[in-house]
Amino acid sequence: MPNKKIAFITGITGQDGSYLAKLLLQKNYKVFGLVRRSSTYKYFRLKYLNILEKVNFVYGEMTETDFIIDQLKKIRPNVFYNLAAQSFVKYSFDNPKYTNSVNYKSVKSILDYIINSKLKIKFYQASTSEMYGNINCGYQDEKTKFNPNSPYALSKVKIHNLVKKYRNKYKLFFCSGILFNHESPLRGSEFVTKKIISHLVKMKKINSVLELGNIYAVRDWGYAPEYVKAMYSIMQAKIPEDYVVATSNSITVKDFFIRCCKKIGYNPIFKGRGINEKCYDKRTGRLIMRINKKYFRESELYHLKGRPLKIYKDLGFKTKVNVDDLISIMFKEELKLTHFI
Ligand code: NAP
Ligand code: GDD
Repeated sequence: MPNKKIAFITGITGQDGSYLAKLLLQKNYKVFGLVRRSSTYKYFRLKYLNILEKVNFVYGEMTETDFIIDQLKKIRPNVFYNLAAQSFVKYSFDNPKYTNSVNYKSVKSILDYIINSKLKIKFYQASTSEMYGNINCGYQDEKTKFNPNSPYALSKVKIHNLVKKYRNKYKLFFCSGILFNHESPLRGSEFVTKKIISHLVKMKKINSVLELGNIYAVRDWGYAPEYVKAMYSIMQAKIPEDYVVATSNSITVKDFFIRCCKKIGYNPIFKGRGINEKCYDKRTGRLIMRINKKYFRESELYHLKGRPLKIYKDLGFKTKVNVDDLISIMFKEELKLTHFI
């Protein structure tokens, strides 16, 4: 039997890293994952997916690039999926330097090493729709110009452009997926979809009010397990290129919230405007949601809607799960997850 292919995943404890590890194990890869130490348990996603024992862990920080390079020399992976990032846009305004260090500088050092080594490593970079910023256009695709308006987006544009530059200059298999928002039961708790769903589930038991920021932002939300399949397809392409991955449907945070309320049996009605806007359950009069200024961003990205035609035409990839399916899946799994955390 031929030797197994070896994958190295950074960000393996995150949402996408966990689903991707599962997919690559199913495809018979030997999977290594970078994990940074912390005082809290963070393997619940891998445990939930029943793959904790199947992954080989490498303990280190993205910013310790010498350590990562030493690991690459030892492990000699065939594929490198770079999913680790300071991925929370709001936090990037508080600490732009750290965001740049993790998302750009460390990755640049790893790419420089791959170029200078004799190792033939295919490299995938987790690029993002956040790079588009606010543009006057109904949708975004591979031809749309970037206009980053957060330190997070800026760090991602810098590394995205470098991946492309190195690919062209050194003729290596370096590619990026420009992924629009994608969610799942394993989404980090501070992101808005997970925050809404977890809170609505908790509200059935405890008396609390959900607080949100800008509920008029529009996002194109997809389903993470499908998006890691897209990452894999991008890495199997004959020619390395960058691809947009999106559903091409987008709604406001408010609309997402309303759909969630209805799903759980509330009849939401809204009163007030701006930061005074509140949502009540029409039947009971219970206050469900209010706006809190602290969740607003220094600079908001108002509208994202992807046009994923290139990946469909070149690689035959198309999303199937729509936002209502996504909400159903997230609600269904929310309670089960508490056993893994
Ligand atoms: P996530 O759940 O926030 O996971 C991020 C992962 O990166 C976690 O495993 C985290 O480790 C790790 N990490 C962060 N900083 C690190 C550091 N300094 N050293 C080592 N590991 C570090 O993110 P995700 O949603 O899975 O997204 C995966 C990637 O896709 C990210 O690069 C994100 O920017 C990008 N992306 C995501 C979306 C989306 O909608 N989800 C869309 C476009 C692009 P800990 O467990 O220790 O925190
Ligand atoms: N997190 C959060 N919390 N967002 C809120 C809240 C709140 O209480 N209220 C409103 N929002 C709005 C945000 O202002 C934003 O416009 C939208 O909800 C989505 O926020 P997030 O879920 O935090 O995601 P994001 O779009 O900022 O970033 C995610 O998607 C990017 C791809 O476009 C992250 O996964 C990024 O890493 C990813 O690159």
